[in-house]
Amino acid sequence: MTRRRALFTLVCVLGAAACSSESTPSGSSGTSNGSSSSGGDASASSSSGATSSSSGSTSSSSGSTFDAAASDGVPATPTELNAWLQTKAYQAWPKEGAPHPSTGPHGNVRTYLSPKLDASMQAKAAEHPLGSVAVKEFYSGQTLSGWAVSIKTEAQSNGGKGWYWYEVFDTTPTATPIQGQGLSGCFGCHSDGRDYVKIPYPLQ
Ligand code: HEC
Repeated sequence: MTRRRALFTLVCVLGAAACSSESTPSGSSGTSNGSSSSGGDASASSSSGATSSSSGSTSSSSGSTFDAAASDGVPATPTELNAWLQTKAYQAWPKEGAPHPSTGPHGNVRTYLSPKLDASMQAKAAEHPLGSVAVKEFYSGQTLSGWAVSIKTEAQSNGGKGWYWYEVFDTTPTATPIQGQGLSGCFGCHSDGRDYVKIPYPLQ
């Protein structure tokens, strides 16, 4: 699983178009090979990739076609999502009382649910609404050290592929995340949650 995730990240760094679950390389966008060879520019090239992904807009499963208006303004593209996380706007949402050790692989954590996801968890809904967002902060001691985010970008969870997944172990804006629509390395473990949300509810 680790190897698969690493490979996925690499592919994402090389071109954001490949970060959508659509993996067929189309001949028309052949310029990405040449332009992505300047190794240090991974985050820059992925952000430009996100804007140029309109060329791939025929692929219906791409997270980049998701309208952030559905998710209280939370964008499902890596550069924009990181910028939004930096604002810490999610800290106004329903949340756990304090950081605590993860019961999974996530270290010390504190989870926040967007208002519509919180309401859906409270209602014990089998499918959460389009635009549901969960943000999990990672802590190293008392210090914020990164984030994990899940955003429901499609009306149906579709076995986990209807969610955009994002994780970064660094709070600097240029840090390279593990991210993408329908990442099996994430949803595999989340599939036993309530529609892919695992945090015990009511929040503690
Ligand atoms: C081995 C199991 C496992 C894997 C793999 C995993 N998670 Fe989680 N995740 C958990 C558990 C357990 C929780 C509940 C809170 C806790 O104890 O950390 C959780 C909680 C979360 C939450 C808070 C919302 C919720 O569902 O409770 C987010 C967001 C999240 N994970 C994102 C991710 C992302 C993104 C990935 C992939 C990069 C990922 N997770 C991979 C086990 C896992």
